[in-house]
Amino acid sequence: MTKADSVIPVLTIDGPSGSGKGTISRAVADALGWHLLDSGAIYRAVGYAAGMAGIDLSDAAAVTRCAETAKIAFRDPKDGGETRVIVNGHDATDEIRTETAGAAASAIAAFPAVRTALFEKQRSFRKAPGLVADGRDMGTVVFTDAACKVFLTASAEERAKRRYKQLKEKGLAVTLSSLLREIEARDERDATRKVAPLKPAQGAVIIDTTGISVADVVAHVLEVVRAVLPQRPAKGH
Ligand code: C5P
Repeated sequence: MTKADSVIPVLTIDGPSGSGKGTISRAVADALGWHLLDSGAIYRAVGYAAGMAGIDLSDAAAVTRCAETAKIAFRDPKDGGETRVIVNGHDATDEIRTETAGAAASAIAAFPAVRTALFEKQRSFRKAPGLVADGRDMGTVVFTDAACKVFLTASAEERAKRRYKQLKEKGLAVTLSSLLREIEARDERDATRKVAPLKPAQGAVIIDTTGISVADVVAHVLEVVRAVLPQRPAKGH
């Protein structure tokens, strides 16, 4: 880490699938005027690139090569809307959001060499005036020196309902019961893997978002940031 890096503030937002990380991280980054790292999208993109290359997802060496070489870019559409995820020149935004892509990401994310291959790429998102980093190990591994660390959680039922709503809105065919099963299986794998398991970082503020509105969670996270960095009032809050 360079000296310049150490003065660029980072807010890490970790938590399980469906805890609201994506929505909250985007809203908080917008309010602060900071950059956003969606690290889950990077793991999903590698799983997708490996699938497209016909690589067996249990072949750690081949998947690692893919993580090292895949060209993954984020593009914000000029007219607003969802950030596009471009994988090896192809807009894979919709493909990487399915539960199957999530399960593939979770499988390849358990390989230590894949995580090492993606480490520097994730660190390169740390740019002035600040970064909101969304993931599973942002506070525990990738940005251990982050100024503020938050861990979002919610009951598995609530998380499954949120994912159901999101996927339905995208026109994808899903059932609530199968989503709940998939979410529980993914949580289990993410929390029990040997490397970078999903857990709150030391000193992280834990927020249970079950039954709490997005606006209230955003306000709470911004309070956490303001308590640590009082000189950075959020825009519009
Ligand atoms: O957050 P999202 O659901 O997009 O992440 C997909 C998967 O990628 C997670 O289930 C997890 O296995 C993996 N992941 C990870 N470390 C991160 C972000 C995501 O292992 N920092």
